[in-house]
Amino acid sequence: MLSSWSWPQSTEQSLALPVKMYLPISGLLVTLVVLRTTVAFAPVPRITWEQREVGLVHFHEPGVSNYSTLLLSEHRDTLYVGAREAVFAVNAHNIAEKQHEVYWKVSEDKKAKCAEKGKSKQTECLNYIRVLQPLDPQTLYVCGTNAFQPTCDHLSLAPFTFLGKNEDGKGRCPFDPAQSYTSIMVDGELYSGTSYNFLGSEPIISRHSSQSPLRTEYAIPWLNEPSFIFADVIRRNPNDTEGEDDKVYFFFMEVSVEYEFIFKLMIPRVARVCKGDQGGLRTLQKKWTSFLKARLICSKPDSNLVFNMLQDVFVLQGPWLKEPVFYAIFIPQLNNVGLSAVCVYNLSTVEEVFSRGKYMQSTTVEQSHTKWVRYNGAVPRPRPGACINSQARAANFTSSLNLPDKTLQFVKDHPLMDDSVTPTSSKPQLIARDVNYTQIVVDRVQALDGTIYDVMFISTDRGALHKAINLEHSVHVIEETQLFEGLEPVQTLLLSSKEGKRFVYAGSNSGLAQAPVAFCGKHGTCIDCVLARDPYCAWSRHSATCVALYQEHGSRRGLIQSMSGDVSACPDRVKESYGQHFFKRGGTVELKCPQKSNLAQVIWMFQNSVVKADSLKYMLLGRKSLLIFNLSEGDSGVYQCLSEETVKNKTVSQVLAKHVLEKMVSHTPAAPTQLFTQTNDSRLAPRVLAETMPGASSQSPDLQVTAPGAVVTSPSHLVPTSTPCQPKIVINTIPQVHSENTMYLKYSDNRLLMFLFLFFFVLFLCLFSYNCYKDYLPGHCLKFRSIMLLGKKKPKSDFSDCEQNVKETLVDPGSFSQQNGEQPKPALDTGYETEQDTITSKLPTDREDSQRIDDFPTKDEPFDVKCELKYADSDADGD
Ligand SMILES: *[C@@H]1O[C@H](CO)[C@@H](O)[C@H](O)[C@H]1NC(C)=O
Ligand SMILES: *[C@@H]1O[C@H](CO)[C@@H](O)[C@H](O)[C@H]1NC(C)=O
Ligand SMILES: *[C@@H]1O[C@H](CO)[C@@H](O)[C@H](O)[C@H]1NC(C)=O
Ligand SMILES: *[C@@H]1O[C@H](CO)[C@@H](O)[C@H](O)[C@H]1NC(C)=O
Repeated sequence: MLSSWSWPQSTEQSLALPVKMYLPISGLLVTLVVLRTTVAFAPVPRITWEQREVGLVHFHEPGVSNYSTLLLSEHRDTLYVGAREAVFAVNAHNIAEKQHEVYWKVSEDKKAKCAEKGKSKQTECLNYIRVLQPLDPQTLYVCGTNAFQPTCDHLSLAPFTFLGKNEDGKGRCPFDPAQSYTSIMVDGELYSGTSYNFLGSEPIISRHSSQSPLRTEYAIPWLNEPSFIFADVIRRNPNDTEGEDDKVYFFFMEVSVEYEFIFKLMIPRVARVCKGDQGGLRTLQKKWTSFLKARLICSKPDSNLVFNMLQDVFVLQGPWLKEPVFYAIFIPQLNNVGLSAVCVYNLSTVEEVFSRGKYMQSTTVEQSHTKWVRYNGAVPRPRPGACINSQARAANFTSSLNLPDKTLQFVKDHPLMDDSVTPTSSKPQLIARDVNYTQIVVDRVQALDGTIYDVMFISTDRGALHKAINLEHSVHVIEETQLFEGLEPVQTLLLSSKEGKRFVYAGSNSGLAQAPVAFCGKHGTCIDCVLARDPYCAWSRHSATCVALYQEHGSRRGLIQSMSGDVSACPDRVKESYGQHFFKRGGTVELKCPQKSNLAQVIWMFQNSVVKADSLKYMLLGRKSLLIFNLSEGDSGVYQCLSEETVKNKTVSQVLAKHVLEKMVSHTPAAPTQLFTQTNDSRLAPRVLAETMPGASSQSPDLQVTAPGAVVTSPSHLVPTSTPCQPKIVINTIPQVHSENTMYLKYSDNRLLMFLFLFFFVLFLCLFSYNCYKDYLPGHCLKFRSIMLLGKKKPKSDFSDCEQNVKETLVDPGSFSQQNGEQPKPALDTGYETEQDTITSKLPTDREDSQRIDDFPTKDEPFDVKCELKYADSDADGD
């Protein structure tokens, strides 16, 4: 097995058990628990890039939507895009440049037939491309939903046309565009996870191959209402001496069989099959003999945060990695506050569970109730579900076809492992709040000092991309970029890491976006560049710019980068912006500060003392700009904007801007003109109100402006004033400064808290009574139960009955049964089977809830209101 990879002995056992037992309740209480302050959430992104600031490249074809599948050919520098009824080839360096396109539309009669079955002609009865995989260097394999008649075809790359193969896509592509799917092409054979019928009720993980097609058994222990998330192949370790096989891993979530709960509790799973699997000879004929699945744990035991809704997985692998690593995104099942987590799993941990872990077994208790418990009996040899390796071959089991019936029968009945897969360091790498993560890609980067960082690019359901790294046990969110204008979810992410050209591609319903992995050039000063703590970026002394390391060829001397944010190597002199403004008595001015960092604090100084920006006189606008009201002579002087950013207990302060305010000497009573103040730097352009300065608009003030590189475009707020005597200011409060999709909203509504609390309390009571009723709780409540129990339990349908009912549908290569998948599905027993723990029946009783209900948040975070002022001077005073 994976002898060359080391794994620690199951240290998680003690942790995993309690989590497992409390999971149902914890999952429920997750929103309550969130309100406790013990969890360290990821900090806000240091920088927020609006789309127009960074100028991303987009691709969108008029009339085409749902850009759902991406495939990159690094060799051809081409990105292939599967959308609704179309496939495109675009230049991978500039996706706006379309190279080829081919349409695949549904014929009118097919559309009509689809509509007859009650589906929508405008949306559902179309062809959504769901599979886009390389078949050979000249051909792509493409499948689409094709108006609920999934079909696959070969797409020749030169010329860019479909070959008209018209293969039945059943089992490779879903019927319904709304259903989950995943697929991966491995050595010319397509492995896919999808649904097998029109209703979408028959899930299947299958391999399509002319030699040896295989599929999952249609039975609840194998797949129970799954949502397929991701699949990938992991090749055998080249140093492996045990003759292991290549393996295909499937990630999905399914309705729990092992925990009993009032609603359908979803459990994230990893399953794996062996590439060399040929199915069984009698038992498991044309079925996987190597299908095993295990639960993925992503939770924070000390805070009872349980993340059980798997969103996406990325496999980080490469020759430079000791072993492949899985990065997975989760959200909790009840996620009204927007919590997301990233958990990381070592391959060896996953393999350990499959190759050494205990199996689970269903048993019937109390006449008809099925429970899943750990199987402690003897396990047949060769080990059920194991790939054929040297050891098996030595024992004359050269193929799955000659595995003994005992082994096959066992794996057929026990595909679920009892042991779970725990994340590295037993907790999430990152927990974020007020954001729903959707997709993840990870790049491994070497910083200037040689340290390796895994840079996570995580997309949100609001069109943004977060870029985060782990810095010595704390998460640093380097930046967030708005990829799409609309608040639409990012549905697919792809990373290209070709030398010198590194991009992240994102697909959504409306189009595609291409972003470089870093915006180094946007950091205008050495301090900015270093404080970004972006492993891609370093300050070049030579060119006095912030450069991307992956584009720097040759010598790395003269480059400055410090992942701890140590700016001492930066040249001393920081040039600040400078502006000079003239005012008139009684006016108002806004002084700007070119600060991008969301982590920095802006401090204003006037004549060397700090301006207290909470009076009637001064106000901060958007945490940065200073507003001064009712100007008088005493206000003339030098105003400085300082930024203070604390990194690792060290505060870096720098002067970012200087403004000189001067009272206008000569007052011209002539008719007021349009403008009054100017700087050369639009970022510093103050808004002076109520007073005009004739001639100022044409006059170029004696200014020297040295602007740090970042271009912050600010819409001109200068409102021409016509009659300037009595200043009148209209204040419009807008609660955000960033566009709302990227903003981190601070959440604190006491009434909501109270409501949530009551809601969960009631839910907890229900749960308690339910468990009591079901007799899962010990003696204390028997009395209660006997009082409450008026009628007898309704017998539930027997699980084993159900299993017998389960129809055996064999995969027949090329000739899938043509019943349009409308076969009725046997009644699924979704009755809640619980795991009866074989260790102790420790129960989530008072200890648990007292722990949760006790420390309610006492500190209220104020609603983070940021204001923007709008001015109008309509007061016709006729001075
Ligand atoms: C396709 O895109 C539209 C918006 O353009 C969206 O409303 C719809 O849900 C998408 N359909 C699927 C199956 O993704
Ligand atoms: C394997 O099979 C060969 C021939 O079929 C036989 O000679 C050999 O003894 C067998 N080995 C074992 C371990 O059963
Ligand atoms: C996972 O792998 C990393 C690096 O290979 C190692 O440091 C870590 O200890 C492993 N963790 C587990 C739980 O195996
Ligand atoms: C996250 O998703 C939930 C459920 O769909 C939604 O209620 C919530 O508003 C979302 N939060 C954010 C920040 O997008």
